[in-house]
Amino acid sequence: MQPNSTLFDGNRPTADALFSPLVLNKTPVRNRFFLPAMQRGSRGYKPTVGMAKTLRNTADNGPGVIITEGAAPEHPASYWQPAFSILGKETADEWGHVVREVLDTGDVVLLMQLWHPGALRLVVDGIENPYPDHPAWSPSGLIQEGRPNGVAMTTQDLQDTKNAYVDSAVIAKGLGAHGIELHCAHGYLLDLFLWHETNLRSDEYGGGTLVERASFPAEIISAIRAATGPDFIISVRFSQWKEVDYGARIAQHPDDLGPFLTRLEQAGANVFHISARRFDAPGWPLLDPRRSVASWVKTMTDLPVMTIGSVGLSTDLASDVFDDKEPVLQVEDDVVRVRQGLDAGDFDMIGVGRAQISNPDFVDRVRRGDYENLRDFKKYRDLAEAYESYSHEGQLVDQSRKGD
Ligand SMILES: Cc1cc2nc3c(=O)[nH]c(=O)nc-3n(C[C@H](O)[C@H](O)[C@H](O)COP(=O)(O)O)c2cc1C
Repeated sequence: MQPNSTLFDGNRPTADALFSPLVLNKTPVRNRFFLPAMQRGSRGYKPTVGMAKTLRNTADNGPGVIITEGAAPEHPASYWQPAFSILGKETADEWGHVVREVLDTGDVVLLMQLWHPGALRLVVDGIENPYPDHPAWSPSGLIQEGRPNGVAMTTQDLQDTKNAYVDSAVIAKGLGAHGIELHCAHGYLLDLFLWHETNLRSDEYGGGTLVERASFPAEIISAIRAATGPDFIISVRFSQWKEVDYGARIAQHPDDLGPFLTRLEQAGANVFHISARRFDAPGWPLLDPRRSVASWVKTMTDLPVMTIGSVGLSTDLASDVFDDKEPVLQVEDDVVRVRQGLDAGDFDMIGVGRAQISNPDFVDRVRRGDYENLRDFKKYRDLAEAYESYSHEGQLVDQSRKGD
């Protein structure tokens, strides 16, 4: 923690829950906001100088935690499109620049997200891919029920992939990041293990329960913990929804969550990050019309819980980016709801994604109560460069099968 921080004075308690400090593992965090991982600043499988500038600018405006965009471990199965980074030896220098720029702003906490495309990887003509003949990898060769792509991973493939994750985490630590976030959400590789539709394995990596299907992510967490030591932050991000199926569930009932969370915590996780389409939507409306998935998780663990979903915006990411339902701004109202959620103990940190893309000064404005002239989020304007840089043909999002 920098002594000259204007955003967090650890000796002065603040009445505003949003700007009260907390601790992730052993690292103090200045407030309850985080920037989530958002792939938009990589080209040629490497982060750009523009990414470093954008993240630096956002960090300067005050979120407690910055999470870098999903980067894959170095392995042929991880290469999808050059707009999605690799975090490996070949890209460590560029990532080092990003880390230095963000940490140079002061007392922000930096987590680097480790992601893997899994079965969503599609190689298309005209898109630079150094391993076009390598198949997509996943637990059972499925994107979702009845939709094959690539092959099921062998035990050796699992071992190699785990080692590649560990290498990435060790690089992240060496660059100075406070920790990593393991992406187990949205239908990508590690989520395909968690989801019953896509994990049909009969070995020790499959099973009828969520806790059984968590074996591979738990092994990766243990291995990263062993390689990075006790102080490194390991956040685990998971979601019910998938890009290919908004109505999907990895936990059919809240009871599925307890053993799953315990297993991940025992493996070495020390933050849970629940990605929701809307942060305060009830997880199981019939059981409790108020409680979000994050809020259920809070009742089952003492670890800090992050959540996210449509803060400040009227439509969620998937409807917005994939289905063209453009959101309108509702920042002031949502900030009230976020404060209520924090006060009720529903979560410990809140993520702001798209609204922080269009307003890198979002957190500073909330701190000042200045809601005038906030910019709305328009994907074709705010993500124009990112949109131009990747192949839409190389995306496997299924427009035909999505719950509301
Ligand atoms: C352009 C863009 C790229 C994204 N890339 C990632 C990513 O790399 N990893 C990830 O876990 N989520 C990714 N997401 C999802 C965000 O982390 C976040 O969960 C989502 O935008 C919902 O938050 P919001 O409603 O505040 O925007 C991305 C979202 C956007 C808009």
